[in-house]
Amino acid sequence: MGIAYLLEAVNLAKRYWNGKMEIWALKDLNLKVKRGEFLAIVGPSGAGKSTLLHLLGLLDSPTEGELFWKGERVESLSLPQRAHIRNRAIGFIFQFYHLLPEFSALENVMLPARIGGEKKEESRKRAEELLKELGLGQRLTHRPAELSGGEQQRVAIARALINNPEVLLCDEPTGNLDSRTGREIISILKKLNRVEGKTLVIVSHQEEIVKEADRILQMRDGRIVR
Ligand SMILES: Nc1ncnc2c1ncn2[C@@H]1O[C@H](COP(=O)(O)OP(=O)(O)OP(=O)(O)O)[C@@H](O)[C@H]1O
Ligand SMILES: [Mg+2]
Repeated sequence: MGIAYLLEAVNLAKRYWNGKMEIWALKDLNLKVKRGEFLAIVGPSGAGKSTLLHLLGLLDSPTEGELFWKGERVESLSLPQRAHIRNRAIGFIFQFYHLLPEFSALENVMLPARIGGEKKEESRKRAEELLKELGLGQRLTHRPAELSGGEQQRVAIARALINNPEVLLCDEPTGNLDSRTGREIISILKKLNRVEGKTLVIVSHQEEIVKEADRILQMRDGRIVR
Protein backbone atom coordinates (compact mmCIF):
# COMPACT_ATOMS: atom_id res chain seq x y z
CA MET A 1 0.00 0.00 0.00
CA GLY A 2 2.19 2.85 -1.25
CA ILE A 3 1.60 6.43 -0.15
CA ALA A 4 1.82 7.75 -3.71
CA TYR A 5 -1.95 7.73 -3.59
CA LEU A 6 -3.90 10.31 -1.71
CA LEU A 7 -6.96 8.12 -1.54
CA GLU A 8 -7.43 4.47 -2.25
CA ALA A 9 -10.66 2.50 -2.19
CA VAL A 10 -10.47 -1.28 -2.00
CA ASN A 11 -13.60 -3.34 -2.63
CA LEU A 12 -15.68 -0.48 -1.32
CA ALA A 13 -19.40 -1.09 -0.89
CA LYS A 14 -22.18 1.00 0.59
CA ARG A 15 -25.66 -0.21 1.48
CA TYR A 16 -28.61 1.99 2.27
CA TRP A 17 -31.94 0.90 3.70
CA ASN A 18 -34.81 2.53 1.97
CA GLY A 19 -37.75 1.57 4.17
CA LYS A 20 -37.54 -2.21 3.86
CA MET A 21 -35.53 -2.40 0.68
CA GLU A 22 -31.77 -2.52 0.70
CA ILE A 23 -29.93 -0.56 -1.93
CA TRP A 24 -26.32 -1.19 -2.72
CA ALA A 25 -25.30 2.29 -3.82
CA LEU A 26 -21.70 1.08 -4.29
CA LYS A 27 -20.48 -2.43 -5.03
CA ASP A 28 -16.97 -3.78 -4.95
CA LEU A 29 -15.45 -0.52 -6.08
CA ASN A 30 -11.70 -0.08 -6.52
CA LEU A 31 -10.14 3.29 -7.09
CA LYS A 32 -6.84 5.07 -6.62
CA VAL A 33 -6.63 8.84 -6.59
CA LYS A 34 -3.16 10.14 -7.34
CA ARG A 35 -1.79 13.27 -5.79
CA GLY A 36 -2.31 16.23 -8.10
CA GLU A 37 -4.57 14.53 -10.59
CA PHE A 38 -7.84 15.83 -11.97
CA LEU A 39 -10.36 13.03 -11.94
CA ALA A 40 -13.85 13.31 -13.37
CA ILE A 41 -16.63 10.93 -12.37
CA VAL A 42 -19.58 10.55 -14.72
CA GLY A 43 -22.60 8.27 -14.90
CA PRO A 44 -26.39 8.26 -14.84
CA SER A 45 -28.51 9.40 -11.93
CA GLY A 46 -28.42 6.88 -9.11
CA ALA A 47 -25.08 5.40 -10.22
CA GLY A 48 -23.54 6.10 -6.81
CA LYS A 49 -21.40 9.13 -7.67
CA SER A 50 -22.40 11.26 -4.68
CA THR A 51 -22.18 8.25 -2.38
CA LEU A 52 -18.62 7.64 -3.55
CA LEU A 53 -17.68 11.29 -3.02
CA HIS A 54 -19.10 11.17 0.52
CA LEU A 55 -17.01 8.13 1.34
CA LEU A 56 -13.85 9.62 -0.21
CA GLY A 57 -14.45 12.73 1.89
CA LEU A 58 -14.77 10.69 5.10
CA LEU A 59 -18.29 12.07 5.52
CA ASP A 60 -19.68 8.55 5.73
CA SER A 61 -18.34 5.04 6.34
CA PRO A 62 -18.44 2.14 3.90
CA THR A 63 -20.56 -0.94 4.61
CA GLU A 64 -17.79 -3.14 3.24
CA GLY A 65 -14.28 -2.68 1.98
CA GLU A 66 -11.56 -0.27 2.96
CA LEU A 67 -10.58 3.29 2.34
CA PHE A 68 -7.01 4.49 2.70
CA TRP A 69 -5.95 8.08 3.21
CA LYS A 70 -2.28 8.49 2.23
CA GLY A 71 -1.79 4.81 2.76
CA GLU A 72 -3.44 4.72 6.18
CA ARG A 73 -6.57 2.72 6.80
CA VAL A 74 -9.27 5.25 7.59
CA GLU A 75 -11.05 2.74 9.80
CA SER A 76 -8.01 2.50 12.04
CA LEU A 77 -7.94 6.27 12.60
CA SER A 78 -9.68 7.78 15.61
CA LEU A 79 -12.74 9.96 15.09
CA PRO A 80 -10.79 13.14 15.96
CA GLN A 81 -8.09 12.15 13.46
CA ARG A 82 -10.73 11.68 10.76
CA ALA A 83 -12.35 15.00 11.65
CA HIS A 84 -8.95 16.65 11.40
CA ILE A 85 -8.34 15.26 7.90
CA ARG A 86 -11.84 16.31 6.84
CA ASN A 87 -11.36 19.81 8.16
CA ARG A 88 -7.76 20.43 7.06
CA ALA A 89 -7.02 18.29 4.05
CA ILE A 90 -10.30 17.96 2.17
CA GLY A 91 -12.38 20.72 0.62
CA PHE A 92 -15.99 20.13 -0.45
CA ILE A 93 -17.90 21.95 -3.16
CA PHE A 94 -21.55 21.08 -3.78
CA GLN A 95 -24.12 21.84 -6.43
CA PHE A 96 -26.25 23.92 -4.08
CA TYR A 97 -23.33 25.65 -2.34
CA HIS A 98 -24.49 24.79 1.23
CA LEU A 99 -23.66 28.23 2.58
CA LEU A 100 -25.11 29.26 5.93
CA PRO A 101 -27.85 31.80 5.14
CA GLU A 102 -27.47 33.90 8.31
CA PHE A 103 -23.76 34.49 7.79
CA SER A 104 -21.99 36.88 5.46
CA ALA A 105 -19.74 35.68 2.64
CA LEU A 106 -16.72 36.47 4.81
CA GLU A 107 -18.09 34.60 7.83
CA ASN A 108 -19.01 31.57 5.72
CA VAL A 109 -15.46 31.37 4.40
CA MET A 110 -13.91 31.87 7.85
CA LEU A 111 -15.92 29.09 9.45
CA PRO A 112 -13.76 26.02 8.63
CA ALA A 113 -10.68 27.92 9.81
CA ARG A 114 -12.40 28.85 13.08
CA ILE A 115 -13.55 25.24 13.54
CA GLY A 116 -9.95 24.19 12.93
CA GLY A 117 -8.86 26.41 15.82
CA GLU A 118 -7.45 29.29 13.78
CA LYS A 119 -7.48 32.73 15.40
CA LYS A 120 -10.24 35.07 14.34
CA GLU A 121 -8.02 37.78 12.87
CA GLU A 122 -5.95 35.32 10.85
CA SER A 123 -9.05 33.56 9.59
CA ARG A 124 -10.56 36.87 8.56
CA LYS A 125 -7.43 37.97 6.76
CA ARG A 126 -7.13 34.74 4.77
CA ALA A 127 -10.87 34.66 3.98
CA GLU A 128 -10.68 38.22 2.70
CA GLU A 129 -7.68 37.41 0.51
CA LEU A 130 -9.40 34.38 -0.97
CA LEU A 131 -12.63 36.24 -1.68
CA LYS A 132 -10.66 39.05 -3.33
CA GLU A 133 -8.72 36.57 -5.46
CA LEU A 134 -12.06 35.14 -6.57
CA GLY A 135 -13.33 38.57 -7.54
CA LEU A 136 -15.62 39.03 -4.53
CA GLY A 137 -13.82 41.86 -2.77
CA GLN A 138 -16.98 43.96 -3.02
CA ARG A 139 -19.22 41.20 -1.61
CA LEU A 140 -17.62 40.42 1.75
CA THR A 141 -20.57 41.43 3.92
CA HIS A 142 -23.29 40.11 1.63
CA ARG A 143 -25.37 37.16 2.76
CA PRO A 144 -25.85 34.22 0.38
CA ALA A 145 -29.37 35.36 -0.57
CA GLU A 146 -27.86 38.66 -1.74
CA LEU A 147 -25.43 36.90 -4.11
CA SER A 148 -25.87 35.38 -7.57
CA GLY A 149 -25.43 31.63 -8.03
CA GLY A 150 -21.94 32.06 -9.48
CA GLU A 151 -20.97 34.33 -6.60
CA GLN A 152 -22.31 31.85 -4.06
CA GLN A 153 -20.31 29.09 -5.67
CA ARG A 154 -17.17 31.25 -5.55
CA VAL A 155 -17.82 31.82 -1.83
CA ALA A 156 -18.14 28.04 -1.45
CA ILE A 157 -14.84 27.57 -3.30
CA ALA A 158 -13.15 30.10 -0.99
CA ARG A 159 -14.60 28.24 2.00
CA ALA A 160 -13.27 24.95 0.62
CA LEU A 161 -9.81 26.52 0.24
CA ILE A 162 -9.48 28.33 3.57
CA ASN A 163 -7.58 25.52 5.29
CA ASN A 164 -5.41 24.93 2.24
CA PRO A 165 -6.66 21.39 1.51
CA GLU A 166 -4.83 18.86 -0.63
CA VAL A 167 -7.91 17.61 -2.39
CA LEU A 168 -11.15 19.21 -3.56
CA LEU A 169 -14.18 16.97 -3.87
CA CYS A 170 -16.81 18.60 -6.07
CA ASP A 171 -20.33 17.27 -6.63
CA GLU A 172 -21.81 18.85 -9.76
CA PRO A 173 -20.21 22.22 -8.99
CA THR A 174 -21.71 23.87 -12.06
CA GLY A 175 -24.98 21.95 -12.04
CA ASN A 176 -27.00 24.92 -10.90
CA LEU A 177 -25.33 27.62 -13.00
CA ASP A 178 -25.84 28.98 -16.48
CA SER A 179 -23.17 27.95 -18.97
CA ARG A 180 -21.15 31.17 -18.89
CA THR A 181 -21.02 31.24 -15.08
CA GLY A 182 -20.30 27.53 -15.12
CA ARG A 183 -17.30 28.14 -17.36
CA GLU A 184 -15.94 30.70 -14.88
CA ILE A 185 -16.20 28.16 -12.09
CA ILE A 186 -14.55 25.49 -14.25
CA SER A 187 -11.62 27.76 -15.05
CA ILE A 188 -11.16 28.54 -11.34
CA LEU A 189 -11.13 24.82 -10.48
CA LYS A 190 -8.81 23.99 -13.37
CA LYS A 191 -6.37 26.67 -12.27
CA LEU A 192 -6.39 25.32 -8.71
CA ASN A 193 -5.36 21.97 -10.16
CA ARG A 194 -2.84 23.10 -12.77
CA VAL A 195 -1.25 26.02 -10.93
CA GLU A 196 -1.64 25.15 -7.27
CA GLY A 197 -1.46 21.39 -7.67
CA LYS A 198 -4.69 20.64 -5.85
CA THR A 199 -6.03 17.17 -6.44
CA LEU A 200 -9.49 17.46 -7.97
CA VAL A 201 -12.26 14.89 -7.97
CA ILE A 202 -15.30 16.23 -9.77
CA VAL A 203 -18.65 14.58 -10.35
CA SER A 204 -20.21 16.23 -13.35
CA HIS A 205 -22.42 15.73 -16.35
CA GLN A 206 -20.93 18.74 -18.07
CA GLU A 207 -18.80 18.03 -21.11
CA GLU A 208 -16.77 21.24 -20.52
CA ILE A 209 -15.56 19.90 -17.18
CA VAL A 210 -15.11 16.30 -18.18
CA LYS A 211 -12.95 17.11 -21.19
CA GLU A 212 -10.46 18.95 -18.96
CA ALA A 213 -9.88 15.95 -16.70
CA ASP A 214 -6.75 13.78 -16.71
CA ARG A 215 -8.91 10.70 -16.21
CA ILE A 216 -12.61 9.95 -16.49
CA LEU A 217 -14.36 7.26 -14.47
CA GLN A 218 -17.71 6.10 -15.67
CA MET A 219 -20.03 4.65 -13.03
CA ARG A 220 -23.16 2.59 -13.34
CA ASP A 221 -25.14 0.70 -10.68
CA GLY A 222 -22.56 1.37 -8.00
CA ARG A 223 -19.59 0.20 -10.03
CA ILE A 224 -16.90 1.74 -12.17
CA VAL A 225 -17.60 0.44 -15.64
CA ARG A 226 -14.84 2.24 -17.50
N1 LIG B 1 -29.41 8.25 2.30
C1 LIG B 1 -29.88 7.35 1.43
N2 LIG B 1 -30.81 6.43 1.80
C2 LIG B 1 -31.27 5.51 0.94
N3 LIG B 1 -30.83 5.40 -0.33
C3 LIG B 1 -29.93 6.28 -0.77
C4 LIG B 1 -29.40 7.30 0.09
N4 LIG B 1 -28.51 8.03 -0.62
C5 LIG B 1 -28.49 7.50 -1.86
N5 LIG B 1 -29.33 6.45 -1.95
C6 LIG B 1 -29.51 5.59 -3.14
O1 LIG B 1 -28.26 5.12 -3.57
C7 LIG B 1 -28.14 5.16 -4.98
C8 LIG B 1 -26.97 6.04 -5.39
O2 LIG B 1 -27.26 7.40 -5.03
P1 LIG B 1 -26.26 8.60 -5.33
O3 LIG B 1 -26.84 9.81 -4.72
O4 LIG B 1 -24.89 8.21 -4.94
O5 LIG B 1 -26.36 8.67 -6.94
P2 LIG B 1 -25.72 9.74 -7.93
O6 LIG B 1 -24.91 8.96 -8.91
O7 LIG B 1 -25.04 10.80 -7.18
O8 LIG B 1 -27.02 10.31 -8.69
P3 LIG B 1 -27.34 11.82 -9.22
O9 LIG B 1 -26.63 11.95 -10.53
O10 LIG B 1 -28.83 11.80 -9.39
O11 LIG B 1 -26.88 12.78 -8.18
C9 LIG B 1 -29.48 5.65 -5.48
O12 LIG B 1 -30.25 4.53 -5.85
C10 LIG B 1 -30.10 6.36 -4.30
O13 LIG B 1 -31.49 6.32 -4.33
MG1 LIG C 1 -25.41 12.84 -6.95
